[in-house]
Amino acid sequence: MHEELSTLKNQALAGLAEATDAGALEAWRIKYLSRKGGALSEAMKVLGGLPREERPAYGQAANEVKIALEAAFEERQEALKAAALAAELGGGALDVTLPGRPPALGRLHITTQSLRQIYAIYAEMGFQVYDAPDVETDDYNFGWLNIPPYHPARDMWETFWVTQATAGATTEGSPLLVMRTHTSPGQIRVMRERCPEPIRVILPGKCYRYEQVTARSEHQFYQLEGLAVGRGIRLTDLIGTLQQFARRMYGARRRLRVRGSYFPFTEPSIEADMDCILCGGKGCGVCKHTGWLEVAGAGMVHPIVLHNGGYDPDVYSGFAFGMGVERPAMLKYMINDIRYFYGNDLRFLGQFG
Ligand code: DAH
Repeated sequence: MHEELSTLKNQALAGLAEATDAGALEAWRIKYLSRKGGALSEAMKVLGGLPREERPAYGQAANEVKIALEAAFEERQEALKAAALAAELGGGALDVTLPGRPPALGRLHITTQSLRQIYAIYAEMGFQVYDAPDVETDDYNFGWLNIPPYHPARDMWETFWVTQATAGATTEGSPLLVMRTHTSPGQIRVMRERCPEPIRVILPGKCYRYEQVTARSEHQFYQLEGLAVGRGIRLTDLIGTLQQFARRMYGARRRLRVRGSYFPFTEPSIEADMDCILCGGKGCGVCKHTGWLEVAGAGMVHPIVLHNGGYDPDVYSGFAFGMGVERPAMLKYMINDIRYFYGNDLRFLGQFG
């Protein structure tokens, strides 16, 4: 073999042995194997200047060096890759014995938790859960509950009206729709469905009011309605039911008091308070120094409402009540701003349950 070629080969192989990373390897490849200006290409250029008879032997020898260097390059490349992989696996970059990261779990919304607690208490007293629609007609939300159009009691509920006009259609002749302002319209729906059977249901649901949002009131919030209809149901049954609820929800020693009130759909109407769960009636910030917390608005179902539900008020009687759902949770956890409930801040929601 030509001496220059064998020197080149030895030099190249020695250089390759020193290349210990991908960068050095690439530099080596450019230096010896690159078509443009690589040492081997340069050595090939000598060919033209040789005597004709020497050319084939030189050419063949140069080609053999090229094949040998290419093979050595590939081998070195593989060896470096394998070494890098072994270093990564053995070097502790991945410790498979570490405990896994826990997946983020969802949880029940605080309102759902409150609702379920309330369901459980009323279920023990024989109340079934009944679902009624969020969008109601004016008749269900007001009219059949003894709140006729232009009745001043409508001012008790600031109302979101639902526009029904769709392209090419008029609203004339179709009933007025509202986002229900309270869960009471469900009373009419249950009565019409169950009449003349006796009824003992609770109706949970979201209510909507066109009101300013403050720490104490949201424009969307939950209510829970209660309704019992049958023969011989009396005001004392209502008071006993609410008292049982207060005691099971807030502690066995709770006292209940009843005040006269007014709702168009009940007669007589009452509001029920319990002694403050924080101060026991002495007066504190939570009960605004009255010693009492409101539990529910309630009353005996008005004869007109019974009649609208299909029941003969001379034969049947019933009681109804309406209570907040966020409020028990606010009392339990001392939350002083209802806006947290639906602000969707996980830092708040993640604290419960
Ligand atoms: N619907 C009433 C409101 O939203 C609450 C209420 C009061 C419901 C008395 C009742 C009731 O069933 O008897 O303010």
